[in-house]
Amino acid sequence: MNDSKVPFTYGKIVNTDAFTNREEELSKLLTNLKSGINTIIISPRRWGKSSLVSKAFAEIKDEKNIKTVHIDLFSIQSEEEFLQVFAKEVIKVSASKLEDRIKLVKDFFKTIIPKFQFSADAESEFSLSFDFENEKKTASEILNLPEKIAEKKKLKYIIAIDEFQNISEYDEFEKFEKKLRAEWQNHKNVTYCLYGSQNHMMTEIFNKSNKAFYRFGDIILLPKIKKEKWIPFIVNAFRRTGKSIDKKNAGIICNLMKNHSWYVQQLSHYTWNRTNKKTSKKEMLSALNELINGNSPLYEKEVEICSKTQVNLMKAIVTGQKHLSSVKVMKDFKLGTSNNVSKNIKKLRENGTIEKISNTYELLDPAFEIWFKKQFFNIKPESYF
Ligand SMILES: Nc1ncnc2c1ncn2[C@@H]1O[C@H](COP(=O)(O)OP(=O)(O)OP(=O)(O)O)[C@@H](O)[C@H]1O
Ligand SMILES: [Mg+2]
Repeated sequence: MNDSKVPFTYGKIVNTDAFTNREEELSKLLTNLKSGINTIIISPRRWGKSSLVSKAFAEIKDEKNIKTVHIDLFSIQSEEEFLQVFAKEVIKVSASKLEDRIKLVKDFFKTIIPKFQFSADAESEFSLSFDFENEKKTASEILNLPEKIAEKKKLKYIIAIDEFQNISEYDEFEKFEKKLRAEWQNHKNVTYCLYGSQNHMMTEIFNKSNKAFYRFGDIILLPKIKKEKWIPFIVNAFRRTGKSIDKKNAGIICNLMKNHSWYVQQLSHYTWNRTNKKTSKKEMLSALNELINGNSPLYEKEVEICSKTQVNLMKAIVTGQKHLSSVKVMKDFKLGTSNNVSKNIKKLRENGTIEKISNTYELLDPAFEIWFKKQFFNIKPESYF
C-alpha cells in the first residue's frame, strides 16, 4: 500500500491506523468489561487511556446485547450536570428513535419526572433536565437507570467514564462518591470503566482503604508503549507513505521522547513532514527544534509559576540525582530543608510535572525536559544526535 495520507496522529483519540501495540492491555480490558469486572485505568496525561478505551469499544460495537456508553467528565462541573449527562447518554444508546426514547423516560422514571426537550430537526439531539429538589431519590433513580433497562430488556451495559478524577472537584464530592458506589455496586448487568489522569487523584480515589471506591474494580496502571513496539510502527508508517526511516533513527525518536505516546507521534510527524525520501539527522534535528520551540511559551509559563526551590528540585531531578533529601543534594542544588523537599515533591506530583517511576523521580514531559536542560544547563538539542 502506498497512500500519501499523513500517518501520524496526535491530539486526537486514536483507535485505527495510528493505534499501535496495547495488545495485552486491550485483551485484559475487553475480557474484564465483557465479564462484568469494573475496571479503572490510570496513567499520566497523554499516554493513551482514552485511545485504549475507544479501541476496546470499537471492538465491542457490533455485539448485539451489549450497549456501550461513553461519558467524558472533562467539562462537567457538578453532580447535577453529571447525573443529567449520565441519564441522557444511557437513554441515547438504549433507543434510537425519538418516540422510543420518550417511552423509555416514561417507563423507567418512577418517582421523578424529567423534562425531555428535543429539537425538531435533529432526531439524535435531545436533553433531559431534572428537578433536583428531592436530590437523593433523583440521584438514585438516575444511577440505577442502566441496570433497570438492562434487566427489563435483557441487555448488558458497559459505561466508560473518562477524566473521572474530575468528580473530586464537585461540591461535597465525598458524599457523591459514596452515592455512586452504593448504587453501582449492586449492578449485575452494568460494568464500569473509570479512567483518568493526574495519577495522585485517581490513586486517591481508588486506592485508599477509607475511600468509597476502594476495591471497586480491577486497576490497570497503563504503562508506556515500549520502544520495540514503536520502532516498527514508525518505520512502517514512513514506508507505507512512500518515505523511509531506518530503525536506528526511529529508535532515536523513541529515546528523545521517552516512549511518551503523544510526543512520539508528534516528533515522528514533524520528522516525516520534513523528509523527502529518507530521514537523516538533519530532518530529525530540525523536527526536534520545531517541537521544542513550538512548546516553549508553554514551558516558560510552567516554570514561571514554580518557586525557586521547585525549579531547583527539577534541576536535581533532570541531572539524575537519586537521593533528593540527602544533605549533599539539598546543599548543592539549594533545595532548602528536607521538609521543603517533600513539600515540593508533593506539589510537583500533584500538578503532574514529576512522577516516581521505578523508584526515582522523573519529569513526566520529555520535551519539557529537553527544553529545561537547554534553558538551565545549556544542553543543545544537537547534542542528542
Ligand atoms: N495505542 C496507541 N498507539 C499510538 N499512539 C497512541 C496510542 N495511544 C495514544 N497514542 C498517542 O497519544 C496521544 C494521546 O492519547 P490519549 O488521548 O488516548 O491519551 P490519554 O491518556 O487519554 O490522555 P489525557 O490524560 O490527556 O486524557 C494520541 O493522540 C496519540 O497520538
Ligand atoms: Mg484521555
